[in-house]
Amino acid sequence: MKKRPFTLAATAFHTPERGILEVLEKHLFSIDAEGRIADILSPADDGYEQKKEAARAERTLVELAAGQFLLPGLIDLHIHAPQWPQMGKALDVPLEVWLQKYTFPLEAKYADLDFARTVYADLVDGLIANGTTTALYFATIHGPASLALAEICLAKGQRALIGKVVMDDPVQCPDFYRDADATTAIKETEQFIEAVRALAPGKRPLVQPVITPRFIPSCTDEALKGLSHLAARYDCHVQTHCSESDWAKTFVEDRFGQSDAASLDGFGLLTRRTILAHSNFIDEEDMNLIAARGAGIAHCPLSNAYFANAAFPLRAALDRHMHVGLGTDISGGYSPSLFDGCRHALSTSRMLQSGVHAHLPPQERGLPGAPINHCEAFWLATAGGAQALDLPTGSFRRGLEFDALLLDTRVAHSDIHIYDGYDTPEDVFQKIVLNATHGNIAKVWVSGREILKGIEPR
Ligand code: GUN
Ligand code: FE
Repeated sequence: MKKRPFTLAATAFHTPERGILEVLEKHLFSIDAEGRIADILSPADDGYEQKKEAARAERTLVELAAGQFLLPGLIDLHIHAPQWPQMGKALDVPLEVWLQKYTFPLEAKYADLDFARTVYADLVDGLIANGTTTALYFATIHGPASLALAEICLAKGQRALIGKVVMDDPVQCPDFYRDADATTAIKETEQFIEAVRALAPGKRPLVQPVITPRFIPSCTDEALKGLSHLAARYDCHVQTHCSESDWAKTFVEDRFGQSDAASLDGFGLLTRRTILAHSNFIDEEDMNLIAARGAGIAHCPLSNAYFANAAFPLRAALDRHMHVGLGTDISGGYSPSLFDGCRHALSTSRMLQSGVHAHLPPQERGLPGAPINHCEAFWLATAGGAQALDLPTGSFRRGLEFDALLLDTRVAHSDIHIYDGYDTPEDVFQKIVLNATHGNIAKVWVSGREILKGIEPR
């Protein structure tokens, strides 16, 4: 889609490398007709003033005011679209009970395409309002409803990777919510891939299909094998849950005599294009395997607090330069905000360091080195997620897609308070990561298109 080129004059914050904050004060960002960053100029660069004047004369200059900042768009590396109506409730039981008692009955409702369209429109509006410019979605087992999600993301302009969920195991999956058999599940996945590619053709499609075995316990061997063949044939991303809880991890070990990651690899499902949700129980060997394949991990700290029985070894994964991003895991996680995701990743990492056993002497309590800082947390929510998905976005560099947020600290009821002569730009960035809410997000762009239009009253 051709768009009108424009130039932004803004102070931007981004973390192109893990843990490294760059403050681009009063820079000029030129966005081309393809939605890419054509150029970035600092006030010290030749041609800065001329360029700004030219854009102003052409009426293509967007100039941010004091207290407004540009940030890269946020990337949700793991979210269940159909669980949106369940967000904020039903978290009183363990994962395996939660699936059967609440989640499968809700997901079964997406056989009704009208229901699916209503919820998915709300969902995509809600995520965009929270600054989520890219989402890696699990949909449901239903091809038509999953395709409706793709159409809605495309129409609303959100970058999305979407999977029709496969779950065909008749023992683990209820009769009312299960693929008929492996052959049907594979055929419907293939149809879904082709339908999404027809909907969003080209080299840089906004919406892409993802091969999505829900997790090993819900799939037969035949389905897992068939899906890995499809992933190779169609060169698709793959997503699944890996070693999330004691129950899920033990289930796989009992079935295959090896870990979740090793079992997925055995089926050919662990690739550079794979994203594993959670992965809380991965050991050294699993980490080396996942790193060698170049697969990514969606760290879901809030949902892990409810379901995981363990904390993800984030620092160990980062030390190995594994690909890691953040997932909200709605509705196992109850917040749609990746700023909240940053906060939960931060506090989890700090609790890992302090440990939970107050009766132990301080030096024996927790994991030294576990804490991440706010720059690392923001990297996870932006450039880290982009790296895991191999997407040309996540920071501000020439040639990348312009996916961005206008963060306004001056709105009513903002929790970000900036005091001249007291807060440095670095302080402002930290305050944004720790205190931004959706109320601070004034505009959202994906691939150069302004997509935040405000939420209509319901
Ligand atoms: N494992 C299998 N399905 C799910 C799901 O929907 N949510 C979470 N958190 N874990 C899962
Ligand atoms: Fe999940």
